[in-house]
Amino acid sequence: FYPPSRGGSGTGTVARDVFGREIKKKEFLETRKPGTHELVQGPKGDPYYLIVSEDGQLDSYGLNAVCTHLGCVVPWNSGQNKFICPCHGSQYDRTGKVVRGPAPLSLALAHVDEDEDGNILFKPWKETDFRTNSDPWWK
Ligand code: FES
Repeated sequence: FYPPSRGGSGTGTVARDVFGREIKKKEFLETRKPGTHELVQGPKGDPYYLIVSEDGQLDSYGLNAVCTHLGCVVPWNSGQNKFICPCHGSQYDRTGKVVRGPAPLSLALAHVDEDEDGNILFKPWKETDFRTNSDPWWK
């Protein structure tokens, strides 16, 4: 059971680190380099990536790290600027758009926001997938 957050519309999930601690946005950005792709605990306990842009801001979307092929967690490969799945070689670009199969779909998106306590908050992404211009498959 995940209690609803107190922030915003009440339908968010606070990002947590490997120890289950809430992640503060300010602290996170102060201690991460531009271009960071960091795995955190997101909605439903799934691993999600938070992305720090080249200008040091937190990207407004996070990516579910679960491969859409058979569910391996996909690591970020900074040398190749892609996510590359170790299980069967699927690849996703930096926005999580699938660029090589066998994965059939892009990585699921979530909005990234901040609650009134300064914690990083994930919110459901129900709008058009900006990478494919289609309805989100994870809805
Ligand atoms: Fe990722 Fe098969 S689980 S490519």
